[in-house]
Amino acid sequence: MSDWSAKNPFHSTPTQNFILNGNGSRKETRHIVFDLEGSGMAYKAGDALGIIPRCPPDLVEALLSVTNFSGEEEVETHLGDCTLREALTDRYEIHRVSKKWIGGLGDRLSNDTGLIEMRIVRRQRYSTSDGSLLMDWQGSGTDEDIPEDYVEIGASGDPAATLWSNLTSDPSSMEDYIWSRDYIDAIADFGHIGFSPQQLVDGMDRLKPRLYSIASSPDFEQGTVHLTVAIVRYNHHDRDRTGLCTGFMADRCDTNVTQVGAFMSPTRSFVLPQDGSTDIIMVGPGTGIAPFRAFLQQRDIDGANGRNWLFFGDWTEEGEYYYRDEMDDWKERGVLSKHDLAWSRAGPEKVYVQHLMKQHGEEIWNWIENGAYFYVCGDKNYMAKDVHSTLIEICVEYGSMSPDEAKDFVETGLMKTEKRYLRDVY
Ligand SMILES: Cc1cc2nc3c(=O)[nH]c(=O)nc-3n(C[C@H](O)[C@H](O)[C@H](O)COP(=O)(O)OP(=O)(O)OC[C@H]3O[C@@H](n4cnc5c(N)ncnc54)[C@H](O)[C@@H]3O)c2cc1C
Ligand SMILES: NC(=O)c1ccc[n+]([C@@H]2O[C@H](COP(=O)([O-])OP(=O)(O)OC[C@H]3O[C@@H](n4cnc5c(N)ncnc54)[C@H](OP(=O)(O)O)[C@@H]3O)[C@@H](O)[C@H]2O)c1
Repeated sequence: MSDWSAKNPFHSTPTQNFILNGNGSRKETRHIVFDLEGSGMAYKAGDALGIIPRCPPDLVEALLSVTNFSGEEEVETHLGDCTLREALTDRYEIHRVSKKWIGGLGDRLSNDTGLIEMRIVRRQRYSTSDGSLLMDWQGSGTDEDIPEDYVEIGASGDPAATLWSNLTSDPSSMEDYIWSRDYIDAIADFGHIGFSPQQLVDGMDRLKPRLYSIASSPDFEQGTVHLTVAIVRYNHHDRDRTGLCTGFMADRCDTNVTQVGAFMSPTRSFVLPQDGSTDIIMVGPGTGIAPFRAFLQQRDIDGANGRNWLFFGDWTEEGEYYYRDEMDDWKERGVLSKHDLAWSRAGPEKVYVQHLMKQHGEEIWNWIENGAYFYVCGDKNYMAKDVHSTLIEICVEYGSMSPDEAKDFVETGLMKTEKRYLRDVY
């Protein structure tokens, strides 16, 4: 065993990095293989690999240029002192501005930009009809000591101060702002207050590793680890942007050249049944296919005689039928016993994996009654929730249970007691 970790990663090199999508697909999903030779790293089907991204050098240089720094300035970081260039490349996430960084501008906006602090110390109100004095209040003007009906009127003409005050007083404006902006955008809005190199990095999010479900079995693909990665690309404010780690792997990981920090993130629960004769049902649309490629490789090489049923889906058969040749081979050789494909953008109606589960409800119930394991991998927010409710509906319909009984059977029985309903969702 090796002790590589997020803090002490193994420096691996990608040996393959190619797009799995067919021509004309609007998605970019890559198959990326990393070399483990010399690492002593072991893994099992179901584990995930941690990857340490690096920020895009062109973004680092652009940020140095708009702030007028050379990059050689020393800054203090959570990992010790280093140059500003190194901090912006390897220690902080510079592709998305953080709430903390924005929040930290407050003092300096009011101090440096001439935002005027006004205190009301005396207020009188007169009647509009006869001019008589209706109210006469005097006080210190502190927060605890202002008239109840006092209405604040913007005191500063600085649009940056107004923007800052909106962002920090309204959480949804803040979410909207940071969703589409990096530090270049933020410097355009707030840069006039001036930054020291230290002020630039203080409050930025620390750079975090990303996890990827491993798409290979260590026995089938010896000495390597395979990933199935959906590349995040978008355009905001007229600039093309990428997710930090997926952009790094897609655009700046040269095969057999680039060194990439990696470590294993083992799973305790998302594992194949010990008894190879147990049937398994796998539901993995999109990149959710990854651990099921690993499971199928493992069951194939083990000669496990339990049946394997895969529900996969994505936009279209032409564009997103990942690992088609391998699936065809497994079907031909009887490793993949059942294979159901849901193409969501092939026709006028959305077809999702749970729709196909519903169509095969009775058979799913028979497999489960017979001891099958049920696995789900992929999107946590929508797909996994819908698959979960569909599984409960199947138990109601074919297992003669009330909705409450079926919920308990699935959530307590299958998930917690028997541990044969397992999820790897993100
Ligand atoms: C256990 C586990 C297993 C995983 N397995 C896989 C896997 O096998 N394959 C895989 O591809 N991923 C997998 N992931 C997800 C992966 O870890 C990363 O989260 C993903 O690759 C995005 O990382 P990133 O650094 O490229 O994007 P980040 O820089 O982290 O950005 C992603 C963020 O961008 C946001 N975003 C998306 N579109 C836009 C837009 N148009 N405008 C603004 N923001 C946008 C998203 O909301 C998301 O929060 C897994 C995650 C976990 C926890
Ligand atoms: N938390 C995360 O970070 C996270 C999790 C998952 C995916 N993503 C991001 O999403 C992008 C693509 O991910 P992906 O390639 O794995 O595919 P995906 O977006 O999960 O889509 C795979 C398939 O699932 C379908 N789908 C959408 N909603 C569904 C639902 N409620 N039930 C069942 N199926 C549903 C999609 O259809 P339609 O699109 O046609 O509706 C598509 O056919 C990537 O950029 C990835 O980073 C992020």
